[in-house]
Amino acid sequence: MLRQLHCVTTLALLALLALSASAARYSTYGTLQTINSSGVMNVVINNIHSSINLFDDHMQSDLANLIETLQANDTDIRVVVFSSGNPEFFIGHLDVNSVLPGYLESSYFIETESALPIFDLGNPNLTFLEALLWNITELPQATIAVVEGLETSLGLNPGAGGAMYVSQLIGRGCAFEYMLASKDIDAATAESYGWINRAFQTSEELKEYVRELAARIALFPRAGIVGTKQGINAVSRPPLDVLIRDAQNVIGVLERTPEAQALATRFITATNNQSIGELELNYGADLESLFK
Ligand SMILES: *[C@@H]1O[C@H](CO)[C@@H](O)[C@H](O)[C@H]1NC(C)=O
Ligand SMILES: *[C@@H]1O[C@H](CO)[C@@H](O)[C@H](O)[C@H]1NC(C)=O
Ligand SMILES: *[C@@H]1O[C@H](CO)[C@@H](O)[C@H](O)[C@H]1NC(C)=O
Ligand SMILES: *[C@@H]1O[C@H](CO)[C@@H](O)[C@H](O)[C@H]1NC(C)=O
Ligand SMILES: *[C@@H]1O[C@H](CO)[C@@H](O)[C@H](O)[C@H]1NC(C)=O
Repeated sequence: MLRQLHCVTTLALLALLALSASAARYSTYGTLQTINSSGVMNVVINNIHSSINLFDDHMQSDLANLIETLQANDTDIRVVVFSSGNPEFFIGHLDVNSVLPGYLESSYFIETESALPIFDLGNPNLTFLEALLWNITELPQATIAVVEGLETSLGLNPGAGGAMYVSQLIGRGCAFEYMLASKDIDAATAESYGWINRAFQTSEELKEYVRELAARIALFPRAGIVGTKQGINAVSRPPLDVLIRDAQNVIGVLERTPEAQALATRFITATNNQSIGELELNYGADLESLFK
């Protein structure tokens, strides 16, 4: 068992080296490890700059580079499986520092010229983050998320289309309940609502199921996967102009309110700048303390 694990890690490192050797549009930070096998790319998300797998600029930069590789028509990858290398979190949450004033001026990146653009280069009406997530839905590959661990909410609105995708999955009533109250949900309940496709008792069952699913999808020709995704996207994804209006509202109005700024600042303090600890691990249960 251990030997097998060691083997996989070594291969992943090699793949990481191969990816970073090719010219990347954005700086690379080593937060994603990839390994390809028979048309399937396994991506392990492991943000070495954060104890909670924070969705920060490092991770966004690496994801944007990965997406660019996958958009190229010469790849034979047909399925992309995202899993986490962090035992507690799939992806913690968006870096709350990015909604605070001063973020733009901060020396978050050592080389300032490598900072991510706020708006997308391809469509300046979308934020970089929204374009990144939209581009994942547009990929010519099927994408699967292996979620083991927490995904915490923030008490801000679930932006970049989050609330819209969730309404489509769980329906209007449950979306109001979970989005407005920012409630935790366990895997079995999430499965019964259609929020996730399937819940498993053990990590082994989950991995085996996804391995078989990915291998089966990868049997099919690229054009079939692309066409099927287009059809499903056409009726189940928020339209781009709705996302654009949402971006303007979030960036232009919500993030700038004194309440949002105060809450974000309190959150950074209470989580010791988003480090693993009581609040990040039990956010759903403990969030009331932030609002008192
Ligand atoms: C995995 O596939 C991607 C996309 O085609 C490619 O850029 C990358 O070099 C491949 N990695 C390895 C290790 O073959
Ligand atoms: C890949 O092919 C599609 C369809 O022909 C085209 O729209 C797209 O621009 C191509 N992507 C790249 C990166 O060349
Ligand atoms: C999204 O994809 C488009 C090309 O379709 C590209 O111009 C843009 O830079 C990409 N944005 C991100 C954030 O990946
Ligand atoms: C961005 O929005 C402006 C104003 O609404 C519009 O004129 C422009 O065509 C949009 N650009 C893109 C690339 O969608
Ligand atoms: C939190 O961490 C970020 C990234 O390292 C840093 O830019 C920021 O100044 C830190 N904030 C506080 C309050 O320590």
